[in-house]
This record gives sequence, C-alpha cells and structure tokens, in this order.
Amino acid sequence: MNITEYDHTPVLLNEVLQHLKVRPDGFYVDCTFGRGGHGKAILQQLAEQGRLLAIDKDPAAIAAASKELRDDPRITLVHGPYTIMSQQIETQGKMGQVDGIIFDLGVSSPQLDNPARGFSFQNDGVLDMRMDTTKGITAAKWLSCAREKEITEVLQSYGEERYARRIARAVIKARSENPLKTTQQLAGLVSETVPTREKHKHPATRTFQAIRIFINRELDELRVALAQTIDVLGVGGRLLVISFHSLEDRLVKRFMRNESRGDSYPLEIPVTHDLIRPRLKIIGKAVYPSGREISENPRARSAVMRIAERVTG
Ligand SMILES: C[S@@+](CC[C@H](N)C(=O)[O-])C[C@H]1O[C@@H](n2cnc3c(N)ncnc32)[C@H](O)[C@@H]1O
Repeated sequence: MNITEYDHTPVLLNEVLQHLKVRPDGFYVDCTFGRGGHGKAILQQLAEQGRLLAIDKDPAAIAAASKELRDDPRITLVHGPYTIMSQQIETQGKMGQVDGIIFDLGVSSPQLDNPARGFSFQNDGVLDMRMDTTKGITAAKWLSCAREKEITEVLQSYGEERYARRIARAVIKARSENPLKTTQQLAGLVSETVPTREKHKHPATRTFQAIRIFINRELDELRVALAQTIDVLGVGGRLLVISFHSLEDRLVKRFMRNESRGDSYPLEIPVTHDLIRPRLKIIGKAVYPSGREISENPRARSAVMRIAERVTG
C-alpha cells in the first residue's frame, strides 16, 4: 500500500498556531510529526533562518516527510522516539533555546486506517500495533506468550478495563487452540467475553488502547520526554501537548502543575519564593475542539490540549 494513500487531518490546528506564536526565526520541535499537519503549518510561518526539528518513531511518517520536504533546509527529520529530543537539540547546539515544542499524541489516521498496522478493530489486519515497525515485539507476539497476570495488569493499567481478568483468561484459552494473529480475532474474542456496556463504544476499545500503550511504551516515553522539555525550552518558549485519553492527559496535567509550583520542601522548612523556582507557567485552561471541528473530524472528539510556558527558574 502506498504511504501517501492515507491522510491525517491535524487536530486543533488554529489553536496550536495561536498558542505557539511562531517567531519567523525561531526554533521549534514537532515531537510527533505524523503526516506533518502541525509541522508544515509551523514551517509556513518560519523565515529562512527559522528551524524545525521533526521527530516520529514511525518510519512511514518519516519516509513520507522526507519525500516531500527533503529539499527544505529549515527542517531536520529524525526517525526515533521523541525521547531523543534533548540529544538532538544538544547536537544542534540549541539547548535552552527552543521556542516551542508540540506533542500531538496517539496514533495518526494513516496508522489507524492501514489494516496492515493492526491498530484498529474496524479493519481486519495482522495484530502488529507497533508505531516503530523496525523494532520491538508485535501485539500478536506478546499475546502469544504473556502470562495471564501480565495481560490482566496491562488491560487494567492502560485500558482501565473492568473485565481485564476475564479477557486475559479468554486470551490464554483461545491461544491454546489457535494463535491470535489478527485484529478481528482479538476484537471478536473480547466481544464474546464481555458485555457491551458503553454506548457507541466497541467492547474491545479499551483492550486495543491498553495493548497499544503497552507495546509502544507510550506513557513511559511521554514521562521522559516531558521532563526533557524543561532543559530544552528557552525562557518564554512554549510547550503544547494534545492528548487523546485520560491516562495521557493526567500525566501532562500533573507534570505542568508540578513544574508550575516549583520545588517542594518539607513543611517545617521556611522557604522564600526564589527557592521554590517554578520552571513552567500554565497558560490558560485546557483547550478542546469546537463542535464544528468534531463534526468535520470525528477523530478530534477526545482531544484536549494543555499549554505551558518556560519561565526563569
Ligand atoms: C496523532 S499523530 C500526529 C499527527 C500530526 N500532528 C499531523 O498533523 O500529521 C501521532 C504521531 O506520533 C508518533 N508517535 C507516537 N508516539 C511517539 C513517540 N514516543 N516518539 C515519536 N513519535 C511518536 C506516531 O507514530 C504518529 O505518527
């Protein structure tokens, strides 16, 4: 299948540009370049001296970007997890000088819509689910050897799945007869195992989310990368994060809140404000897509964007 066959509509694009306040000669990082909906809009606002570091762990995303943008000297395309951000910025001599960073988390439409990637229970395809197809183990491989307890824990922790144990047991039983190789096999198994309880939600939604987060180490990598943003951003530089589920959003919200409160000291130690040193300032409230955006792009419906700005500290 041709990589350009699948399109992605960027979520909250106007709001991203409004809050990023792109400076034409600034240095920006798009940690989740995907098909470049946000990144290319940033590039459009950059002058000749402006720079964009674009990262994605999906080789198909980087291949599509390099085909389209390889002649643009303002952009550096990097294949890898966004946790390589600080190393990349160090190499470019821009530590503490970045003007803006965007994370648009989760999966892209090209990943979801291509059955061969195995992310969606709407299409039948091999149960892969790796964002980086060059490494790691596929969901099918993991499900073929994980213990019942481990599967239960993954479904509970990353899918908040009430029927985690029941699903895990069903997986173990099913695989002893026939290996689980496709998305439809897994979706069918979950549907047979648990009652339909949430309106407009396929019973396998939480299972697919949980396995995807686990296979791609999504929350671990997000935690590491968020911590890096503090040293990478210059004073006044902005951090924008778009999340698509409560686990991600909770992590982002806590990170921004803790960094905007600064260092904590035991209550009995008297401290002055300069010792507390908050390193971020939260900008406004969480931003949600408008009803109009959701009707035009239903995949935006669960998006929430949080914004913070680097302050001295
Ligand atoms: C929602 S899409 C981004 C879409 C993009 N903003 C656009 O408008 O085209 C998320 C992208 O982030 C990438 N991604 C997810 N987790 C990543 C990680 N830990 N490191 C690097 N890229 C990641 C995925 O491969 C996917 O291409």
